[in-house]
Amino acid sequence: MKSSALAHPNIALIKYWGRSTNQPSYLNIPTNDSISMTKETIPNANSEIELITQTTIEFSESYNEDTGFLQTEGGDIQFNEVQMERIKKVVDALRASAKVDLKFKMISKNMFPTAAGLASSASAFAALATCASDALNLGLNKRELSMYARLGSGSASRSIHGGFVRWNKGDSHETSFAEQICECNEFNIAAIIALINRGKKEVSSDVGINYAHTSIFNPVKIKKSEEQAIEVLKAIREDDFRTVGSISEKNCLYMHSVMMTSDPPLFYWNPNTLKVIRQVVNTRRQFFQNHDLIKKGIQEKGKKGLECYFTVDAGPNIHCLCRNEDIEKTANMLCEIGISETDMVRVRPSVEGSRVVKEHLF
Ligand code: ADP
Ligand code: DP6
Repeated sequence: MKSSALAHPNIALIKYWGRSTNQPSYLNIPTNDSISMTKETIPNANSEIELITQTTIEFSESYNEDTGFLQTEGGDIQFNEVQMERIKKVVDALRASAKVDLKFKMISKNMFPTAAGLASSASAFAALATCASDALNLGLNKRELSMYARLGSGSASRSIHGGFVRWNKGDSHETSFAEQICECNEFNIAAIIALINRGKKEVSSDVGINYAHTSIFNPVKIKKSEEQAIEVLKAIREDDFRTVGSISEKNCLYMHSVMMTSDPPLFYWNPNTLKVIRQVVNTRRQFFQNHDLIKKGIQEKGKKGLECYFTVDAGPNIHCLCRNEDIEKTANMLCEIGISETDMVRVRPSVEGSRVVKEHLF
């Protein structure tokens, strides 16, 4: 009864930030639908970071308690009580479904910074649900797996799938699940993550999300997100980068407006996040000015600016969204403001979602 799985994190284009108050909060039923891109590092890109979590779990009579460890370069670190509680939420539900009473040992490894706003909780709980259900021989489909992953972390429901994904908010455990809306190669988009700070954020998403309802802007964010989710879904299917980029950027700002005006207020950005935001907005402005001049026949094509957009999750690190063919121009744009190559992670939509693998961590 041992299994291992891999999963990738995802970047939300339409954000989840708030749990429904009509359902028990442990179910992580969101207040609005969300849409994301499951992300993987572009192969051969010059980065030591891989956007992957690998997890191994074993159920056995030889264990007399549940234990979990995060494998790091400095050695294995035992998950603390709060972290174990989240892990057990997923495993307990699966154990109950399998009618198995055995204790487990799990070891997990994130090949990218943990708790830094890059969605380690998303890949972690997607990988955990996938290997634990396999070890328990439950034979679950992706929709069912996304429901169990959600219990660990809302955004993890989306990392069960590759490519582009919608999490239908639903109104119960059975109706709140994620589904793939489009495969990785059906929509032309890439991104560079500017790593502003690899450290652990001060307020985890799990805690910060509880304050969303205290912001006066929250009802507007929820209503707009519902509308934007429909628009973005359509635009992804029509391969319309401009619409996806501009709506995603706005939705990110709505979420951060809620964060900054909640009680207590949450400021996930730092000055360098804002520096990148300004650079993206200015570079895009140049592109559109240039675009107008080209239309009037005044300038040669492609001389200035770049069509790019930004989005930021709960942390200082920022995703610059661009078309595939513009990824090196995006890198140059970041370089101009002093972001070094080692702090750039080039990403694309992942080919696969979470999956069982043969290699075990112990
Ligand atoms: P992030 O932006 O990285 O998702 P969060 O604060 O939302 O940051 O989530 C970090 C939390 O997710 C950790 O404190 C831990 O509880 C959990 N987590 C991260 N990685 C793993 C892992 N590999 N296995 C189990 N839990 C993990
Ligand atoms: C800003 O899914 O990490 O990344 O369900 O409490 O674990 P919990 O929260 P989590 O929150 C994700 C918030 C976000 C936006 C998003 O991914 O939709």
